[in-house]
Amino acid sequence: MEQYIIKGGNALKGEVNIAGAKNAALGILAGAMLTDETVIIENLPDVSDINAFIQAMQSIGCMVEHIDRNTIRVNAIAIDTTEVSESQMRKIRASYYMIGALTGKYHRSRVVLPGGCKIGTRPIDQHIKGFRALGATVDVKGGIVSTEADKLKGTDIYLDVVSVGATINIMLAAVLAEGKTIIENAAKEPHVVDIANFLNSMGANIKGAGTDTIRIRGVEKLHGTTYSVIPDQIEAGTFMFASAITGGNVLIKNVIPKHLESISAKLIEMGCEVYEYDDSVRVVSNGRLRKTNIKTLPYPGFPTDMQPQGAIALSMAEGTSIVTESIFENRFKYVDELTRMGAQVKVEGNVAIIEGVEKLSGANISAPDLRAGAALVIAALAAEGFSTIEDIHYIERGYEDFPRKLQGLGALIEKVTEEKEVRKFKLRVG
Ligand code: EPZ
Repeated sequence: MEQYIIKGGNALKGEVNIAGAKNAALGILAGAMLTDETVIIENLPDVSDINAFIQAMQSIGCMVEHIDRNTIRVNAIAIDTTEVSESQMRKIRASYYMIGALTGKYHRSRVVLPGGCKIGTRPIDQHIKGFRALGATVDVKGGIVSTEADKLKGTDIYLDVVSVGATINIMLAAVLAEGKTIIENAAKEPHVVDIANFLNSMGANIKGAGTDTIRIRGVEKLHGTTYSVIPDQIEAGTFMFASAITGGNVLIKNVIPKHLESISAKLIEMGCEVYEYDDSVRVVSNGRLRKTNIKTLPYPGFPTDMQPQGAIALSMAEGTSIVTESIFENRFKYVDELTRMGAQVKVEGNVAIIEGVEKLSGANISAPDLRAGAALVIAALAAEGFSTIEDIHYIERGYEDFPRKLQGLGALIEKVTEEKEVRKFKLRVG
């Protein structure tokens, strides 16, 4: 039994430091295998998705050692197989980056199909289309993707849907290909740009990341580098909403405020004050939040990874709000849990209609996936009374020290493993 126990009702106050971006770091780890020279990665978040990816790298012979908790040294010279069967890989979505990196460098790969959060069907047809366009044959059989190519040759690839993963994967495969690759309708997320910057620091020639046309001129070889991962936009956004929903005043440090603009804009519509500094933002919330509508969109729109946090804040806002999920088809699974806390939400297809209630009340709930799990934690922080959150392994996939950081802001939350600890917590906090 591993769970969080929470007593809600405290307004969060103080400062919190944001870790490196998990979804940028996953692509960077894959990219580090494209050279035989040593790569040092700094500001790597210590979360289970990253640790699973590192284990998979080690399982094919890549050397990875920790210099400290958030810095690693990678050397791929001793990779002795392009078959990734590491069982951990089934659990993480980003296992698909192994395909791009191994195909790019060794022209072959055999990788178990990605798992990850169950938030929709999550096909990888656009990744496959990109690898094929570069000249690889791609086979999908028995849950394994195999690629093979004599050589990879640059080409024009138009993505039918804006896909973060396909954009990054095609970049990974194309940086060492012969000639020029153009990715049209590319994703513009901050982590796409960060991975392009990282690859360029290794000698790649990628232009246009952050726009919808990315141009890659293949180079013969990449070299070692030292690179620091950008701050996590979604972890930052989660703390911004945690401040908003608890009537708090929190300074969220080590962020890039530009990446948070769509989140700040919604919080301001909801009646919060948001102050932007060079590398931090402060969210102040006084009184009840106001209704608004949210529609998730690719960057620079409101991120799908912030949809549950947004909806949970709106469940306590004054009036009726509408939340439209336009990226994934199954991202309202947390609504049942939220309803058990007293929220009034009706889901119709990809739309949630939320009648704001004045109060949520504590309940025993489960995290259905990573972001929804974090969102339910902040709901419990705002709710009256005690809550327990189960299946916290989802939350640990992407949030470093989540309970400790919240405790630092005055939240009453603890990770417990035994019933005895639950009783102790209840006695201590009253
Ligand atoms: C990335 O997933 C993130 N994961 C997700 O974060 C995030 O929610 C998502 O991007 C959107 O921002 C990682 O970076 C590891 P997509 P990804 O390809 O790359 C469709 C988290 O909580 N599509 O941009 O898998 C797809 O079904 C996770 O950290 C195809 O149709 O997302 C979806 O509707 C959850 N064919 C849309 O595109 C494809 O080949 C966007 O997906 C690929 C995608």
